[in-house]
Amino acid sequence: MAQSRHIVRAAASNDFSAGRLLIITAIAIMSVLAAIAISAAAEEPDYAIERAAMVRTIVSYSAEVNLATGRDRITPGVLEAMGIVPRHEFVPEGVRRQAYADRPLPIGYGQTISQPFIVALMTDLLQVEPNNVVLEIGTGSGYQAAVLARLAREVHTIEIVPALADAAAQRLQRLGYVNVATRLGDGYYGWQEAAPFDGIIVTAAASQIPPPLIQQLKPGGRMVIPVGAPFALQYLVLVEVDGERKVRTRQLLPVQFVPLAGRN
Ligand SMILES: C[S@@+](CC[C@H](N)C(=O)[O-])C[C@H]1O[C@@H](n2cnc3c(N)ncnc32)[C@H](O)[C@@H]1O
Repeated sequence: MAQSRHIVRAAASNDFSAGRLLIITAIAIMSVLAAIAISAAAEEPDYAIERAAMVRTIVSYSAEVNLATGRDRITPGVLEAMGIVPRHEFVPEGVRRQAYADRPLPIGYGQTISQPFIVALMTDLLQVEPNNVVLEIGTGSGYQAAVLARLAREVHTIEIVPALADAAAQRLQRLGYVNVATRLGDGYYGWQEAAPFDGIIVTAAASQIPPPLIQQLKPGGRMVIPVGAPFALQYLVLVEVDGERKVRTRQLLPVQFVPLAGRN
């Protein structure tokens, strides 16, 4: 009898040890997972401080160009979008640390992601409303499309370089930009099936304003486009189509963009 009591006690003590071991193992696993999460976060900073500094730079530059553009400031909605979109996700690893510097950066295939100030200025000039449908020519990294996606209902964007078009489509999907439609093609011809657009933004320099793009603008719509010869003096041009489809163009300021490729 004494022996059987002893056996019962021993079994109870084994259960206790097994339970304790389980708890200790669980705590150890959780600590390791927490350590991995902390070190991953340390390796992948979200660049919030750099992004805020970039927005301050944009604000200070906008005061300098207000006479040329007729806009006395970049609107708060555009600044908010620029302060949220993670530009470092749109540039190659090798230049990630410079993602928030106010300058264009290489994205491969001889192309660039535009200078943040120019992205903010062009977006602002478009005067996007929340119910707007907009078209971008020159997806590149997808960054400009992501900024527009925070302001418009739908964004359509066309890229002519297949590898860039693929990478941008995947990136925008991974980052959750569900209101951006991407397409591989020559943006000179626009996107007829999705037209008409409230706004069109062209992020490569055209030697003339493509007529199909003017036709795809709604009455009251606006287009912002760099116009000029490749690698020569180019101007940012604002195109406005009024209610009677009369077209007004205004040269705003000198800029430098990669040329619009394709048949035209
Ligand atoms: C300055 S980069 C655009 C940067 C881009 N908006 C971004 O946010 O990264 C110009 C882009 O226009 C593209 N491109 C040039 N000609 C084009 C065309 N005819 N149709 C569509 N994309 C074109 C280039 O391949 C390049 O990716």
